[in-house]
Amino acid sequence: MIYLAGGPVRDALLGRPVADLDFVVEGDGPQLAKEIAAEIGGQVVVHPRFSTASVALEGTRVDVVTARRETYSQPAALPDVTAGSIADDLHRRDFSINALALPLVDSRPQVLDLHGGLDDISLGLVRSLHPNSFVDDPTRIFRAVRYQQRLGFSIEDDTLAQLRDAVAGGHIASLTPDRVRHELERIFQEDEPAPSLQCLSALGVLGAIHPSLAYPQAETHLAAVAASQREIAPPGHLVYVAALTYPLSEAQAEAVIQRLSMPANWARLVRDTVRVKVLENALAVSHAAPAALARQLDGFCPEALWAVSRLTCSPAAAQRISGYLNELRCTAPALDGSDLLAMGVPQGPLVGRLLQELRDAKLDGRVSTELQERRLVQAVLTNEGSTTVHG
Ligand code: CTP
Repeated sequence: MIYLAGGPVRDALLGRPVADLDFVVEGDGPQLAKEIAAEIGGQVVVHPRFSTASVALEGTRVDVVTARRETYSQPAALPDVTAGSIADDLHRRDFSINALALPLVDSRPQVLDLHGGLDDISLGLVRSLHPNSFVDDPTRIFRAVRYQQRLGFSIEDDTLAQLRDAVAGGHIASLTPDRVRHELERIFQEDEPAPSLQCLSALGVLGAIHPSLAYPQAETHLAAVAASQREIAPPGHLVYVAALTYPLSEAQAEAVIQRLSMPANWARLVRDTVRVKVLENALAVSHAAPAALARQLDGFCPEALWAVSRLTCSPAAAQRISGYLNELRCTAPALDGSDLLAMGVPQGPLVGRLLQELRDAKLDGRVSTELQERRLVQAVLTNEGSTTVHG
């Protein structure tokens, strides 16, 4: 027998769009996936360890898995998997709302609901299937919060107590960096990541990922970036990473980068955020000319600057950073490198220095037209070694 199971059944019952189709087969899932692909011409990828397969055709993907029983050799380890019945497959799942299956039969299919998922859908409850669920798989802590926020549900009382016990019991510490980061990434992909992250903060989950992520203003910071993300073109989910790491010292930032095994773009963002934060006081009282300000902020990634401008307590620093992001950063001279070469500037470091000088001059209002830029270049060329060019 073949069943549609988990998320798609839940979402169809809730009247929400169904994104991915997940099929469970009592039998050999990968074999069925191969037969489907042979018939419709799709690509099959098989993951033998979990006896799962996916078939991709024209940008659409369906998962076909063997109904399975799971046991956990130790908490937070990946489960050991053996083939089982649909009842086993539903029993291994995280929450009752995900433990629903629709048999693909010709007429009048009835949802198979062995764990009260239909009632929980109508009550709006995220309920675990057994008390050890979060200890077996602490990623479910993140999942519970994600479903709660996405669906506007509540976490059922006993489930919430189990979740809190798993957090207090230190079980998040046993998750690998990749698994924790993956759960955060899935939250970032939600329409509204901030409420889930705020909830994780309130439940002590962020602090359990790394103690330096437990700080009183975390929820306010997340709200601040979420609110201003709606006001302007969204700079992307990385601002949430910046919001979470903003108060950290450089040493704490390095520890968090390691704990989440952050990819290079996240790590750069975190490092830049804490470094820009250190500049806040100086920026607040600075009377530096635009070119000097631009040189000070040029090397930092825009998301870090954007986040700090939203999070700083100093309106003056926020204004200077925003001014840089909205105006100075995008200012470029009219002439480019090939124009300089055509004017007789010799190939080499002088080209770069002149381009920087032209940008500085434009930022500080010393030149505003291409003709003035050309005159400035000519002046340098005729007075070689001129002090006009900063080295
Ligand atoms: N599942 C689980 N425990 C996990 C991960 C997944 O029990 N730690 C089960 C759930 O029953 C879930 C199914 O595997 O419905 C598929 O997982 P996933 O694709 O992550 O869940 P969806 O419900 O499809 O999630 P989403 O709606 O976010 O895509």
